[in-house]
Amino acid sequence: MAKQPDNAGGGFSHRTIERNVTLLGILSLIAVAIGGIVEIAPLFWVDSTVEKVEGVRPYTPLELAGRNIYIREGCYLCHSQMVRPFKDEVERYGHYSLAAESMYDHPFQWGSKRTGPDLARVGGRYSDEWHRQHLQNPRSVVPESIMPSYAFLAETPLKPGDMRAHLTAMRRVGVPYSDIDIAKANDDLVLQATADADDTDLQTRFPKVQVRDYDGNPAMVSELDALVAYLQMLGTLVDFRAAEAQEQAK
Ligand code: HEC
Repeated sequence: MAKQPDNAGGGFSHRTIERNVTLLGILSLIAVAIGGIVEIAPLFWVDSTVEKVEGVRPYTPLELAGRNIYIREGCYLCHSQMVRPFKDEVERYGHYSLAAESMYDHPFQWGSKRTGPDLARVGGRYSDEWHRQHLQNPRSVVPESIMPSYAFLAETPLKPGDMRAHLTAMRRVGVPYSDIDIAKANDDLVLQATADADDTDLQTRFPKVQVRDYDGNPAMVSELDALVAYLQMLGTLVDFRAAEAQEQAK
């Protein structure tokens, strides 16, 4: 093999760099730092990395309490909440998830484990009655199911703690609850689980809120009420059909 001149390819050759560990280290660091700066620096000048999307609103107190039960029971260990932008996923679950749809999630529930199906768009897919039976005994509606039973939820009164404090904490991390939302949080929670309640005020503050007796037991607000309220709103806030129609009209 012909001997390479020391300065092959310019005065400052690879050979010089590769034989000097310190120099190689310093130059590698500079190369990596440039890559890092190019990726990170723009974030200091954009106001938000999440595009606002019409329809996305913070959780109601009842939905938030249901979400806490979802986290407490470890539903995320078997269920993801993010529809990936692939054909098979979109055909099965619906429109792929947008960043804005989980912008008020603290902590987010995207997940990576799918022992069961993705739940990001499960809202409205089944009736409350179906959810009640499914949580009571999953095998009664899906015979081959391996999901555990959560029958105790229907018998356990919901004790969410002071939801005003909970909403205040959420506001501290950036969820835009108003002073009225916080002041009324405990009442809103009960109201949303009450059949035939006057929901005009709740509707203006939390558009598309669904108000009804989710667990079918008017005698108490149970943990089941909260969990089903949460499941039934998942993925229902953004009107993708309207957005697509608008897109096509352009
Ligand atoms: C051990 C894993 C596991 C855990 C934990 C689990 N699930 Fe499931 N889940 C499944 C499986 C598997 C299915 C599919 C079969 C069925 O419908 O039961 C399923 C289905 C579902 C469905 C129906 C989804 C659809 O699109 O058909 C809902 C809703 C659901 N689970 C909610 C929950 C909730 C809420 C919790 C927590 C209280 C939970 N799951 C905990 C495994 C699990």
